[in-house]
Amino acid sequence: MSRQDTAAAEPEIRVEGLYKSFGANEVLRGIDLEIGRGEVVCVIGPSGSGKSTLLRCVNLLEEPDRGRVLVGGTELTDPDVDIDAARRRIGMVFQQFNLFPHLTVTANLTLPQRRVLGRSRAEAARVAAENLARVGLAEKADAYPAALSGGQQQRVAIARALAMGPEVMLFDEPTSALDPELVGDVLAVMRMLARDGMTMIVVTHEMSFAREVADRVVFMDGGVVVEDGAPADVIGAPRHARTRDFLSRLLDPARAALPGEPEATGEAGEPEKEADGAAAG
Ligand SMILES: Nc1ncnc2c1ncn2[C@@H]1O[C@H](COP(=O)(O)OP(=O)(O)O)[C@@H](O)[C@H]1O
Ligand SMILES: [Mg+2]
Repeated sequence: MSRQDTAAAEPEIRVEGLYKSFGANEVLRGIDLEIGRGEVVCVIGPSGSGKSTLLRCVNLLEEPDRGRVLVGGTELTDPDVDIDAARRRIGMVFQQFNLFPHLTVTANLTLPQRRVLGRSRAEAARVAAENLARVGLAEKADAYPAALSGGQQQRVAIARALAMGPEVMLFDEPTSALDPELVGDVLAVMRMLARDGMTMIVVTHEMSFAREVADRVVFMDGGVVVEDGAPADVIGAPRHARTRDFLSRLLDPARAALPGEPEATGEAGEPEKEADGAAAG
């Protein structure tokens, strides 16, 4: 393989042997993941399986205990890296939109551009307008967040992230806080981004979105990747019992509420571990 071939094959996002604990709670237990440029990967898995922690480690909102994270060839886990510069290449969208309620939509978009990127007022306003149009909300430029529906607020949050010019976008259950009839507009924006070639990791339980838009689906449980493959395989023909069980609960949520059944959390089946070095008498 020539040097050029190697460079072309370098994934946009590479996660190697990632571990993260909170106290005694071992949340990520060796995650390996490669995401190519322009690839869309949907991450699914039970509550508590470490999906949010994984995304937060990818942009170093959480510091991993062990392992490496590379984005666009830059190692974010390198102690000498300019983490602010590296983080600017990564846009993140949360379940809660986190807009400033006292600022107009435009000001929500221009503030981070001016503060973080040092753009002029005019330039930030131009980029804000461009990205509001992209998410179909040009006419809401002067509105305050409270005057918008949840779906519109989430599209503003996406436009705010896009205005920073990210190379990759991370979405953490972006439609989970929305009324069902508002989900479609947000998914449509994400579908457009995928079509435009954005590299995306999307934690979501919108299975029709995952089937249509994702190049790959990753199923996580208990802090590890259980299955990683084409949507038709992971969703349509899962190889592991844990994946099948999770998907059947998702399709029929009433099952998860049956008394006596273990709850679908990452804690189930976690090996019991003694804290070593505890001087017990
Ligand atoms: N900042 C934190 N401090 C302590 N525990 C945390 C923190 N963030 C997440 N956890 C714990 O890590 C586990 C995995 O959480 P999370 O990554 O949010 O899972 P998921 O997004 O799959 O529901 C949970 O047990 C959660 O309580
Ligand atoms: Mg989560």
